[in-house]
Amino acid sequence: MQNNNYDEAEKIINATDIVALVSKYVKLEKQGKNYKGLCPFHDENTPSFVVNPDKNIAHCFGCDGGGNPAKFLMQIENINFNEAVRRLADFNGMEYKGKGNPQKIDPNTKYYKIMSIASEFYQANLEGSTLGSSAKKYLYDRGLTDLDIKEFGIGLSPEIGDSLYQVLKESDFLELDMADISLVDKNNNGYHDIFAERIMFPICDMEGRVIAFSARIFNSKDKNQPKYINSRESKIFHKGETLYNFHLAKPYMLKKKRVILHEGQMDVIATYRAGLKEAVCTMGVGINDFLVKQLKKYVNSVVICYDSDKAGIEASHKAINLFKRYGFQIHLVLIEGAKDPDEFVKKYGKEAYVDFFESHLLDSNQYLFETAIKDKNLSDSNISNSVKNEVFALIQQMESNTEKEDYLKRFSNVLNASIEAVQRDFESYRDKHAIPKPIEMYPDAIEPNIDIYEYPEYPEFIQEGKIKKELKSPCDLRLLQYAKSSRDLALEINNRISDSLAGFSDGALNLWMKMLDEFYINYDTFSEAIFMNMLNQEDANFYIEAVETLKKDDIRFDEMDMNLCIEKIKELSLKNNTKKIKESVNHTTDITVQSRMVDQMFKNKRKLNTIKNRRK
Ligand code: UTP
Ligand code: MN
Repeated sequence: MQNNNYDEAEKIINATDIVALVSKYVKLEKQGKNYKGLCPFHDENTPSFVVNPDKNIAHCFGCDGGGNPAKFLMQIENINFNEAVRRLADFNGMEYKGKGNPQKIDPNTKYYKIMSIASEFYQANLEGSTLGSSAKKYLYDRGLTDLDIKEFGIGLSPEIGDSLYQVLKESDFLELDMADISLVDKNNNGYHDIFAERIMFPICDMEGRVIAFSARIFNSKDKNQPKYINSRESKIFHKGETLYNFHLAKPYMLKKKRVILHEGQMDVIATYRAGLKEAVCTMGVGINDFLVKQLKKYVNSVVICYDSDKAGIEASHKAINLFKRYGFQIHLVLIEGAKDPDEFVKKYGKEAYVDFFESHLLDSNQYLFETAIKDKNLSDSNISNSVKNEVFALIQQMESNTEKEDYLKRFSNVLNASIEAVQRDFESYRDKHAIPKPIEMYPDAIEPNIDIYEYPEYPEFIQEGKIKKELKSPCDLRLLQYAKSSRDLALEINNRISDSLAGFSDGALNLWMKMLDEFYINYDTFSEAIFMNMLNQEDANFYIEAVETLKKDDIRFDEMDMNLCIEKIKELSLKNNTKKIKESVNHTTDITVQSRMVDQMFKNKRKLNTIKNRRK
């Protein structure tokens, strides 16, 4: 068996045109029989990376990187042999049965196909329409060239109508499938496109397949429209698991041994255009454990460069903590003279941007110090006291004494006070705060709460109508019920409420965790008998009672109700969270921590209001 496999793999490897393959990553120039280019595996200014089509190998004489097509791909994509051969087969248009796994057909293939056609359609529409010229003008004004537009696959959705729908229908795709990935929607007049008159940025998964779109408004007079509308979550698109530009950035991340993390996709594009190609951003949500773990597979070092406004700084603080927990080397860039990287590049040019970027890499202490004093009116004693607390807390957790001293010195300069006085203030602070309270001690108060509510495009269904009947069973139980219908749905729900589990009752939470962490890890379809077996007596009793309660409602799957339950859980979670913070605010004496908590309470309140408004 083994041999067969390798025979098959060998055929695929030998059939690969190494020049074509390497050209996807490296700009090659012909030199005699060979081709030459800058090595993708290490930094260099003169090309020592040679591709030999006769021997079908690529080799770097500088770092020894490269090899045959499979080895090259394994290195540059950081994947194993089997995966490399599978992708080479794809690349060559061949079939690969692979190691032992009987060619399992990916049930999502149809979605990828639809997305790829949609993406091509949008791109063609940008090129060949009247609306396209004004969209292109917009993109040019933002500094993008035709080449950039092509590289990022940027397109344009036409005026409101059903053009995309018609194209997809001609290719015999099912309407339900198009709707599943939120490209089309149905109303009384039939199906129509969801995206209209927006610039379409394709969002790709880690393999470069289009899985969603981020659609930017560019010429609307309607001020109430959201700036970006992103595809809804689907079988192939999970916001919390997606990094924009990851697939293009990956080889550069490996080469530069770092990843740059931005706030928005226009920033990523700007940084990429400027030549720092290892840049990614999240999809309008905060960075999370899943994504950090994912990045950790490739790099150990991150440069966080968010907007330099209050929100960006706050988000950076959260990101620092998260990356710290995963042992990353962390640097930050605090953009000056512009609100974000995109604006900086536009204002001062690519070179100035790269110069600024590389010469303003702050470590996290520097950044926390800078942002603590930034724009603060220190002559106001209230403000200066709170800044002092923040800075002293920072200094207190520094490990080295020289660093502590250095920062006390800097701080005394900022305060325009003598180092001795600042030293004494610090000491008295330290006496009152003998045990440093690391931020992690209050996870509920400061844990990155994914901010989907900040964006008006998410979710819209509540407005669509009322639930048909009054349901009596609690939302958490109803979600459990829905989660039983399929593993995918369970995962989707879990994804959407992962930061809101505090909205569950204790009993329901136990069942939820069991279902997600134990049951669906091992089984694809729900089985009551097996699930019950996993429960202890107490949980089992709760489960039986829950089933009884649910019976009264006679719930079948109802998407609208599911969405409503999710909203409700989020609302409850925010309320519980606020309650908890209120309790702990009185137990802490640290003003920084307190003010952070109060901030969080306000944030919760804002989110709650957003939910309530949406429901009206
Ligand atoms: P920003 O508003 O900072 O984006 O939102 P930006 O990149 O500066 O946008 P431009 O320069 O005006 O085009 C950051 C990210 O938040 C998400 C998007 O993913 C965006 O890239 N977002 C923002 C939304 O999802 N919806 C919105 O309405 C706004
Ligand atoms: Mn911007």
